[in-house]
Amino acid sequence: YTPPTPVNEPVKGYSKDSSERKELLATYNNMLNQTINVPMYIGDQLVETNNKVKMSPPHDHQHILGEFNMGTKQHVNDAIDAALAAREKWASLAWEQRAAIFLRAADLLAGPFRAKMNAATMLAQSKNVMQAEIDAACELIDFFRFNVAYMHQIYKDQPGSNPSMWNRLEYRPLEGFVFAISPFNFTSICANLCAAPAMMGNVVVWKPAESQVYSAKVIMELFKEAGLPDGVINMVTVDGPDAGDVVFKHPDFAALHFTGSTGVFQHLWKEIGTNLSTYKTYPRIVGETGGKDFIIAHKSANVADVATGISRGAFEFQGQKCSAASRAYIPSNKSEAILALVKEQVSSFKMGSPGDTSNFVNAVIDERAFDKIAGFIDYVKESKDATFLIGGGYDKSKGYFIEPTVIVTEDPKFKTMCEEIFGPVMTIYVYPENDYEKTLKLLDETSEYALTGAIFAVERYAIDTAFKMLENAAGNFYINDKPTGAVVGQQPFGGARKSGTNDKAGSYMNLLRFVSARTIKETF
Ligand code: NAD
Ligand code: ALA
Repeated sequence: YTPPTPVNEPVKGYSKDSSERKELLATYNNMLNQTINVPMYIGDQLVETNNKVKMSPPHDHQHILGEFNMGTKQHVNDAIDAALAAREKWASLAWEQRAAIFLRAADLLAGPFRAKMNAATMLAQSKNVMQAEIDAACELIDFFRFNVAYMHQIYKDQPGSNPSMWNRLEYRPLEGFVFAISPFNFTSICANLCAAPAMMGNVVVWKPAESQVYSAKVIMELFKEAGLPDGVINMVTVDGPDAGDVVFKHPDFAALHFTGSTGVFQHLWKEIGTNLSTYKTYPRIVGETGGKDFIIAHKSANVADVATGISRGAFEFQGQKCSAASRAYIPSNKSEAILALVKEQVSSFKMGSPGDTSNFVNAVIDERAFDKIAGFIDYVKESKDATFLIGGGYDKSKGYFIEPTVIVTEDPKFKTMCEEIFGPVMTIYVYPENDYEKTLKLLDETSEYALTGAIFAVERYAIDTAFKMLENAAGNFYINDKPTGAVVGQQPFGGARKSGTNDKAGSYMNLLRFVSARTIKETF
């Protein structure tokens, strides 16, 4: 069988007076004015506990959206049992039956679930309408549809045979269960961390980030409505270390599918290493982690392109995309023009609640993130080595609001040029226009992470030089475009160095990590 050929889900525009905008805002306001209870999803049970945790919008932290049920280690054990109980039936289902569930999920999300998934992402993760649309709707629909096509491509790949010998490759699911741990920042990534292994016949225990639990509930409802059998994906809201403590000591632990910070991933990898002799099989470890994404402009670059690349690349979703640009190297011959345009563009960004669709910038995710980002801004205020081009203000009285902030430094190794901030802060270093190669070398040497990066230039030799000198500095390398907004099926996404195992989410490379192939030779 051949599944339908996937095409990218068209991005809706939500223009003024459009029916899609009316529907979305009505859904948003409904959800804003009711409170929900998020249970854990364990097998066929919706589980509640006495330990309720309140959920609030980051842009209005005194407003209550509802609560979720904080579970214990016992709930993680129950989720593993439920997953393992579902495994045999799920793993033996023909691939096209599994595929059909995710194609149905894509259709439901393109239709009746779209407004709810977008509104949940706007409300609880503070994304503006277009950022929610390209994430919670389009990217997730694309993950489902394209992964089904990649899955077919994998199963089709068979070794050669001859009339008296038939060689086969059987792409079996892993022996055990997959542990998915997700971050707060992309609803689509969270759902795909579960869906990709499940599609390949695996069963999953999923621990979402606390600040993403609201949209996690909608994801679980979507899976259920699409016909995913109970127990295939189990969602537990349990403290990370407690969940890890149970999972990483379990003999049937077969894979970690993680997206989040580098520090947490390294900690988990070590824990898995410590328990290696416990497991029936070597666990697969797949992780997409931190970044310090760059933009470098050559002296031949187009000024407007560079400025827009910086403004959009750094400040969409408050700089909380893993792909967000957070350092830029611009040449002295064009620095004045670029800085002036960046300042003009950033000053036009309105900040506030996503419920007002004219706001481009919303709140950062929570108080911990706010305090960390404000700490970097305070550091700059006290430093002699950097100045503010624009921004530098913050206020958490109503919501966790941080002004989009552009810093200019003369020190290419300045703290904010090197450390991951994960917020709306961009630092720019102006290099002598003829020191291009020296700057590329310095950029590479200060790239502990290697997630995304962009080069702006018109001269082809300059592009080629950056292409070669930065070959390991970015898993996603953009030429004359901002480093955010990778589209499934077009730019497979993932980073190297301390940014992850680079298994490219939304590609056959990622899906291959969740199969254990059996080679079969039969002679006649
Ligand atoms: P985080 O590392 O704080 O949390 C990620 C998840 O890990 C959460 O669910 C959290 O509860 C869990 N966790 C934390 N400690 C744990 C422990 N000891 N045991 C088990 N689970 C634990 O990350 P975040 O703040 O949610 O997300 C932001 C980070 O994610 C940034 O560093 C960003 O660069 C990265 N990220 C990377 C990509 C990528 O594709 N490379 C994509 C999105 C986000
Ligand atoms: N698709 C997201 C981006 O590239 C991760 O920004």
